[in-house]
Amino acid sequence: SYIHRFKGLNSMEEEVAKKLNIHKVLIVPGSYDEDELVLREIGRVASVYLKSILKNDIVIGITGGQTMAMVAEEMSEDDLKHSNIAVIPARGGLGKNVEKQSNTIAAKIAKKLNASYNLLHMPDNISKELLKSLSEDPNIKEVVDYIQKIGILVFGIGRADKMSVRRGLSEEKINTLKQHGAVAEAFGYYFNKDGEIIQEVNTVGVSLDHYKGLQHIIGAAAGTEKAEAIIAISKLNENLTLVIDEGLAKKILI
Ligand code: BG6
Repeated sequence: SYIHRFKGLNSMEEEVAKKLNIHKVLIVPGSYDEDELVLREIGRVASVYLKSILKNDIVIGITGGQTMAMVAEEMSEDDLKHSNIAVIPARGGLGKNVEKQSNTIAAKIAKKLNASYNLLHMPDNISKELLKSLSEDPNIKEVVDYIQKIGILVFGIGRADKMSVRRGLSEEKINTLKQHGAVAEAFGYYFNKDGEIIQEVNTVGVSLDHYKGLQHIIGAAAGTEKAEAIIAISKLNENLTLVIDEGLAKKILI
């Protein structure tokens, strides 16, 4: 767009992609720190990009959070050009609001894409044994098989400190994360600044190995406070396409 060129955002996008060593960066003008409406535009841009990479017979995985909620809200409804698309939450979670939302978001996106969707009712942070037996349930198994077929992942990126509180972790666990230098959270995992895993959650969902092998990944985030988290997450898979605001982009470049 005109504003884009005027503000030199195209070259900034290239600069950020180069610095993070990732596939692509899309920058939305303005700063989320000063204007919350910027999040809406991030949602819109991410949804347009998602549509541009859609193909037949693909499973889209999506996480929860307010950024992903905006992707669902801002996505335009139009004629279906593709067939056999499924949308599913990228990971389980029944207890916490955050994950409940990913079910809603997946359903909303599926509706807009005229795709099918599958809900994932699975608690977070259960014992390994319980997880194993739950995974043998035919209904859950079906969704677990779907998760393994995710070909496009759309996800939010959070700060470890904020997400651990939002997910209702115990004070002990929150402190352990801090001590181990956790800065980022994405699809249920906590990472340090080098993108090394600090803690994983016992639930079904996209595994880190799966993530690392994905060709199509879209991460979206807003706000300068997420800069460190973005840098960490970018180290996991260089196929990442990142949708961020201008304020956050500038912070990453410092
Ligand atoms: C959660 C995702 O739903 O949203 C997390 O599961 C992510 O992986 C978080 O870190 C980001 O949330 P928000 O609300 O800042 O977009």
